[in-house]
Order: sequence, then C-alpha cells, then structure tokens
Amino acid sequence: MFINFWYAAGWAKDVGQEPVKVRMLSHDFVLFRDTEGVVHCLSNTCVHRGGSLAQGKVLNNCIQCPYHGWQFDTGGVCRKVPSLGAGAKPPPRAQVDAYPTQERYGLVFVFLGDLPEAERPPIMPIDEWEQDGWRSTELDYEWRANYERSIENGLDPAHNEFVHPSHGFSGANEDYKVPDFEPKEHDWGFSFMMKFRSSAGKTKESMKKERGEGTTEAGTGHMGPSQMWTHIHFTPTNWMHQYIYETPVSETHTKIYLINLRNGMLDPDMDERISKGNLMIAEQDRVVIEALEPPITPTSLARETLVPADKVIVRYRERLIEWQQRGWRIDVDALNAKGDDIVYAIPSPARHEHRRWALHPVPLLAS
Ligand code: FES
Ligand SMILES: [Fe+2]
Repeated sequence: MFINFWYAAGWAKDVGQEPVKVRMLSHDFVLFRDTEGVVHCLSNTCVHRGGSLAQGKVLNNCIQCPYHGWQFDTGGVCRKVPSLGAGAKPPPRAQVDAYPTQERYGLVFVFLGDLPEAERPPIMPIDEWEQDGWRSTELDYEWRANYERSIENGLDPAHNEFVHPSHGFSGANEDYKVPDFEPKEHDWGFSFMMKFRSSAGKTKESMKKERGEGTTEAGTGHMGPSQMWTHIHFTPTNWMHQYIYETPVSETHTKIYLINLRNGMLDPDMDERISKGNLMIAEQDRVVIEALEPPITPTSLARETLVPADKVIVRYRERLIEWQQRGWRIDVDALNAKGDDIVYAIPSPARHEHRRWALHPVPLLAS
C-alpha cells in the first residue's frame, strides 16, 4: 500500500454534516462537510486519549470528540479543550492530520500523504463524464483481496478468455493467442488497446448485430497503484468505458468503485441491466482473485512463471517499485507487528510545517 496518492473514500452523496468513518490503508479517517458543503477528512484518532472522532459531532465547523469534547477544525487544529476552561489555549501538540479532498465524478477523493500540492499525482480523469451522448452508472463492491492482485487482473489481457465466458471461448479456439502488443508509457502508468475475437460471435443474432461480428477492440490502462480504466469497443461506434478506483482498506481487503460510461443504450431504463452485467463480470473475477496464493503479490518475479502475455503485469510491478523507491510504500510488516498500544497516522502535508505530533507517522519502506 502506498501513501501519496488520491484514494476514493466514498460517494459524495453519502457524506453530510454527520461524521462518517472510513478505513483506508489500514487506518481510520473521519469525513464530514462544513456549513459551506465542503468535505473534509481527518485522521480519526483523537490525540488527547484516543477517542474515535467519527463518533463525535460536527459543531461550528469543527469535529468534537465524543470523549472529552475537544474540538478540531477542518485543518485538524484543536480550537477548544473544554476541561481547561473558557478561552484557554489548547496545547501545541493538539492537532490531528487533515488531508486534502476533492469531489469528482460523484466520489470524494482524499489525498493520503504529505506531498505539497504541485507534486501530487493526479486523480484518474473521466473525459466522458457529463458529456453529451454518454451515460454513467456507478457501483461499489468489496473484495477480500489485495488491491494489486485486483488491478493486475483488470490489466491482464489473458484472463478474459477463461474467467469471462461472455468475452472468450474458454480456450476452445485452436487459434487463440494473446497478440503481441506494446504498452504506451505515461507519467503514472501505461495503456494499451488490442483487437480480439469475442464470443459475441456465438451469441444470439440480435446481440451479434448490436455488438458486432465478434471482433471487439478493448484496452486498458492504469494511473498510480490503484486506479485503472478499461475501454471496450464492441463496434466502431458502440463503446463502453469503465473507470475503476480501488481503495485498499487493508493489504487483503479492497473497496472498489466502478463508474461505467456507455455511448449506446442511453435510455435510463437500461441502467439496471448494465449494472447487473458489470456485477456479474466482477463476480467472475472476484471468485478467482480472492483465491490467489499468496494473497499478496510476491515481491520477486522469480516466484511466479511469467510469459509474454504477462508483460503488463511486469510493467505494473516496475511502477510500484519506482514509487517504493520514492519512499511511499507502507512497511506492512512493521505495521502488522506493532503492539495494540500504538496507533500510527498517515502523514499529512501539515507535517512539513509543524514538528509536534502526538501520533507517529506510519512506517514506510526505506527508499
Ligand atoms: S479523547 Fe478526545 S477529547 Fe479526550
Ligand atoms: Fe476480468
């Protein structure tokens, strides 16, 4: 798991002035809106004596801890310690980490890290969002799986043939082979498109007409460790574009937000059918991915037997190593070995301005 990327924390419609607790990267956070409607995200652990801020209340644009009523503003700074009496100044260490947020595509994104704004990797854009001729549907689901295993599955051009009966022939075609392809490198990931024979050819005549004569062009790409897209072009004009924001709840548990855009079947009555189809496909993936061993991507390529069709898997892992070398990878072994008397926080940008913090930052692998 990596700090210093944007993560989807929830649907914007689910966050109001009542605090909402969210777990990401094995840490708890609290989300709430201020009176202007702006969403804020703070580390959930009160630095007084460990109250869970999400159990508190939002008062005067501050979150009030349920235990002794300390109030933290939207920047995480404590403004009031009731036990000290009216007007008393809170101690300098009385601050919790506060994280940058953005609302986009119906989601609340939180930047979980301490990079200054100019250096932050982007949120994966959805160019078709609210464009004429496109319609979106949204889904979320949770897997008991590692997010890297899940992203690798999404990028993998060789699994469709076997995991998704609706896309492939389960290896029954003698001429099946993943074509040679060269992914295009981008700042925060890569992308590729390829043509393949799809099993639309063995479905009903009407579907064939709708989806083409069994040749589909599809491609995928990723941006950062846990955001990816898939574009499926059933015909030269009938397209489905999917954007997937995965949030590691922990190393072995992932919350997945899927935004599906389509430029055909625009009738809102079709939404349910589209979402059902998306869920059915995701379920086919889930069963396989949750059973992978080891559950977490091995750190050495030598522990698996990779072939040319796994090229994108290797590229993805190389990118992860680059981000690890920047010192952004959480040291999960150290995190798991910590005693129950310790709670860490994901460091926020304000850690560069103030030196005094009650909670230690999460251990990171040495760069
Ligand atoms: S633990 Fe939060 S105010 Fe005491
Ligand atoms: Fe799949």
